[in-house]
Amino acid sequence: MAAEIIDGKAFAAKVRGQVAEHVARLKADHDLVPGLAVVLVGEDPASQVYVRSKGKQTLEVGMKSVEHKLAVDTSEADLLALIDQLNRDDSIHGILVQLPLPKHLDEDLVINAIAPAKDVDGFHISNVGLLGTGQKSMVPCTPLGCLMMLRDYHGSISGMDAVVIGRSNIVGKPMAQLLLGDSCTVTIAHSRTKDLPEVVRRADIVVAAVGRPEMVPGDWIKPGATVIDVGINRIDAPEKGAGKTRLVGDVHYESAAARAGAITPVPGGVGPMTIACLLANTVTACCRANGIAEPEGLTA
Ligand code: GUN
Repeated sequence: MAAEIIDGKAFAAKVRGQVAEHVARLKADHDLVPGLAVVLVGEDPASQVYVRSKGKQTLEVGMKSVEHKLAVDTSEADLLALIDQLNRDDSIHGILVQLPLPKHLDEDLVINAIAPAKDVDGFHISNVGLLGTGQKSMVPCTPLGCLMMLRDYHGSISGMDAVVIGRSNIVGKPMAQLLLGDSCTVTIAHSRTKDLPEVVRRADIVVAAVGRPEMVPGDWIKPGATVIDVGINRIDAPEKGAGKTRLVGDVHYESAAARAGAITPVPGGVGPMTIACLLANTVTACCRANGIAEPEGLTA
């Protein structure tokens, strides 16, 4: 039987609708407008696309959007001074520094300079520690989006066997923490994992986040499993014409969809959820900063 397709685009639109409702309520009841500041250093084309999209969607849900575009040779001192200024600005509830940063800037130092309560990426060491110990934290957007889709599809995922392929700080590790928080039995697999196909075949839930096009073939998928594909890889598509490309995930979609119970497509799966969760995190941060009950269903 063909897998059910988990429509991340539609789900993200629903989350943005919920965020917009909360933003309207914050304005009406508390005269508050959540504000998100995005900092981009340099002119990486992919980062520019993401930052533009974040700014547009922030405005669409009724929040304040501030963009700081800095030259590629910006000094660490100048970047830290800007973060300090944003940390002190009461109209800004979320701060995101777009990664990767140019090589001369220390990413850990910069991320850890953001006030943890405004760290809507959930990358600050305090938030990492809070998530790891099951305390209230800001949760990284992509894994939060994956968790929301899993909860929506399954109801409860308690007791399920989950395999996360990839151990990045942005996706793999926080994803594993979130699945553990929802009482899954979690395995983190990576490039050195022995017999990866057998490890993946045990999983009721597979989250692929390695950044290697179509590396997970369908015959690794346990029949009926739920597959969440975080990868967004651009590959050549000569069948579309000379010089053409297309986007694929880390999972070979057609063969996996033939075995899985449910699967996220690429594009239109996890991707749209990331910015929706960034907006949700900004509302959450605004509520926490002002002692207001935070929205239900938009946090872990
Ligand atoms: N670059 C790629 N993904 C992300 C993300 O989730 N947050 C930030 N800040 N930069 C990124």
